Amino acid sequence: MSAIDYAEKIPNNVNLVGDRTLQRALEHWQPQFLQWWHEMGPNDFEGANVYLRTAVSVDAQGWAHYGAIRMPDYRWGIFLADPVAERKIGFGDAMGQPAWQQVPGEYRSTLRRLIVTQGDTEPASVEQQRRLGHTCPSLYDLRNLFQINVEEGRHLWAMVYLLHAYFGRDGREEAEELLARHSGDADKPRILTTFNEPISDWLSLYCFTYFTDRDGKYQLKSLAESAFDPLSRTCRFMLTEEAHHMFVGETGISRVVKRTLEVMKELGSDDPDRVRAAGAVDLPLLQKYLNFWCSSSLDLFGSEISSNSAANFASGLKGRPDEGQYEDHVLREQTLNLVTPQGASDVPMLNALNEVMRESYLKDCEIGLKRWNRMIERAAHDFRLSLPSSRFRRSIGAWAGQPADPRGNLMQRELYEKSLAGWIPSEADRAFVHSLMQKVIEPGRMAGWIAPPERGINNLPLEYEYVKLH
Ligand SMILES: [Fe+2]
Ligand SMILES: [Fe+2]
Repeated sequence: MSAIDYAEKIPNNVNLVGDRTLQRALEHWQPQFLQWWHEMGPNDFEGANVYLRTAVSVDAQGWAHYGAIRMPDYRWGIFLADPVAERKIGFGDAMGQPAWQQVPGEYRSTLRRLIVTQGDTEPASVEQQRRLGHTCPSLYDLRNLFQINVEEGRHLWAMVYLLHAYFGRDGREEAEELLARHSGDADKPRILTTFNEPISDWLSLYCFTYFTDRDGKYQLKSLAESAFDPLSRTCRFMLTEEAHHMFVGETGISRVVKRTLEVMKELGSDDPDRVRAAGAVDLPLLQKYLNFWCSSSLDLFGSEISSNSAANFASGLKGRPDEGQYEDHVLREQTLNLVTPQGASDVPMLNALNEVMRESYLKDCEIGLKRWNRMIERAAHDFRLSLPSSRFRRSIGAWAGQPADPRGNLMQRELYEKSLAGWIPSEADRAFVHSLMQKVIEPGRMAGWIAPPERGINNLPLEYEYVKLH
């Protein structure tokens, strides 16, 4: 079941040849996808040979295949994790019943919406990142960017497969719409705000892959619990690809911190102006980028109190990430004490699941922060990086529009407005970061604002030519 047949037009492990109608429909969508990639992907690099990894099967050894290919020749396909024999629904009111192999009629539109919302983020991020190749800090980083891009393209394929296979004509229409909306487009933007934010520098890319791809991880984990088995299997395989995206974010920020500390040592000073003059990212500036991307990503979890999240859980559509770690999987009796600007109150747990997810996400985000702060501490500096409070700069939920500082304290609105430019990147900050973004493409060399990674890709040396540009 897990072997992937690359001899087919659309590589897959779902026996596509056994369903001619579905195969034809997807073969009809395929050239539209390739056209979208050509227009909205990293199209200035279509001739480059990129050292990419491709899945050859969905088990642990399946990632062993690496090779240099042109991105338009990447084999995007449909890969589902192997089925779990006699899988049962693991949560909600139908807990213990057999997982669904088809979409129950009453959940059809909700499930479609969940899949479309997830699917929309995948091509959106490719669009957001499409110009970054021109300012890459190294060939190693350029390769990692392109690896992420082709995999997000494949994640789109994963969601489109579900839409085509299980949602008939509506699903096919949604699949076309996924290529018609574009990140930042005034008329047809992507569905979620974070995916319309421009990613025009590599510091933003590392923050995006650290915070926003991690939101992706949590969404995929909760959908991997779904009673709808094809969705569960699709998301389980996507998670294996997602891990690399967060690796790029975490190690990218680590390398920025490392380089900044080296520069501070050379200067014998932690003065942000002097650090900037020496061509590095001062730590307060990095903090602003963390504040921006973390707060933006926190909105992706939705409102603190949500009847949708309650309904999706109760009906088995969307669980909690790592549902197995909890004891109560029905949650009809539990409450959660939630603090909103109106005060504290006990909310039915089912209605507070977005907040439960947001909290476990923030805990996961802390891991990198601890690592970076240890580096700073070892270099004998007092500065500490931190995550902003989940009340800071929110646009969705109970704290939307509230004048809270990054620590979560409410303050006078006028003072808040004035202070905001000191908490997130200002125009001048962004201009400075952009000034650092000079393309470095000699094999093994790094831009001056970032330290080299600890090792190369797939045990190759750092000096390896990960992208052959001509
Ligand atoms: Fe993705
Ligand atoms: Fe991702």
